Amino acid sequence: MKSYEEQRVPSAPAPSFREQGDVPAMSVTVRVPAKVNVQLTVGGARPDGFHELANVFLAVDLFDEITVSSAEELRITCSGRDAAEVPLDHTNLAARAARVLAERHGLTSNVHVHIAKDIPVTGGMAGGSADGAGALVACDALWGTQASRRQLLDICAELGSDVSFSLVGGAALGIGRGERLTELEVGGRFHWVFAMAGRGLSTPAVFKEFDRLNEGVRIPEPVASQDLLDALAKGDAKALAAAVCNDLQPAALSLFPELARTLAAGKAAGALAGLVSGSGPTIAFLARDAADAKEIAEALSASGTCRSVRTAVSPAVGAVVL
Ligand code: C5P
Repeated sequence: MKSYEEQRVPSAPAPSFREQGDVPAMSVTVRVPAKVNVQLTVGGARPDGFHELANVFLAVDLFDEITVSSAEELRITCSGRDAAEVPLDHTNLAARAARVLAERHGLTSNVHVHIAKDIPVTGGMAGGSADGAGALVACDALWGTQASRRQLLDICAELGSDVSFSLVGGAALGIGRGERLTELEVGGRFHWVFAMAGRGLSTPAVFKEFDRLNEGVRIPEPVASQDLLDALAKGDAKALAAAVCNDLQPAALSLFPELARTLAAGKAAGALAGLVSGSGPTIAFLARDAADAKEIAEALSASGTCRSVRTAVSPAVGAVVL
């Protein structure tokens, strides 16, 4: 297996300015997946406020599409059902990605970034991170900066803990604050049902609640579960269901107690496992196969315990230039 540094962003990036005879590409679109954490083991808080993690990411086939084109100034727009909830200012990770890449190459970040949003907003599925990774890859292609994979991954890590995984996709173990990745083998397809909640949860608030709930507790160093890695490598949904875990789940449930009803509804509908996705509030249910996922999705929709329901399959590829 190649290291992430040796791999290239799949598909053909737009030609560089030079290859095009100094005529810049008009626009570039990049598709980036959502993620679910099948293991999220949290260690103690570090002096910098972050927590050491053993974080097993799995990309799922819900995607945002990020299109960049030259503009007078940096501008972000967003379309899609949850578009109104997406910040369109400098805090948007897509804006930060464009700015950091431009700074590194002595360019101005005059670009229009349009986000076609399908990943739930503040849902624990790395939607914001996906937009950061997508804008970075898209601007690199638009500007012909030809950053190496290592340089792109370094910028991703600077932007946020989950952004590197959004770039690489597939399945990976993230250690450190989650940004130091090792690619994992996946031996089959996993079928998921995602139950979206009526409101979001703030990731810092969930980690803070984790700290509050664990005050005075000696937290062991987080390590990846071998049973879980074996289940992934075999493509064994039942074994994966037995091994999934999320240390942030009690904190998410403490801040959003109604999620317990969603979890119960999915399990009653026959899900192999149900867990909070990342810092929540989206709940991920693992199904046996596509037909099972459809049944669970229908039962969840009818249960009235969530805002909306989606089915998805993993693993999915990372950022791809369309
Ligand atoms: O890195 P990112 O910006 O996604 O992190 C958002 C917040 O989540 C951080 O400010 C921090 O409060 C919390 N976090 C953490 N430990 C991690 C990752 C995130 O405490 N490993």
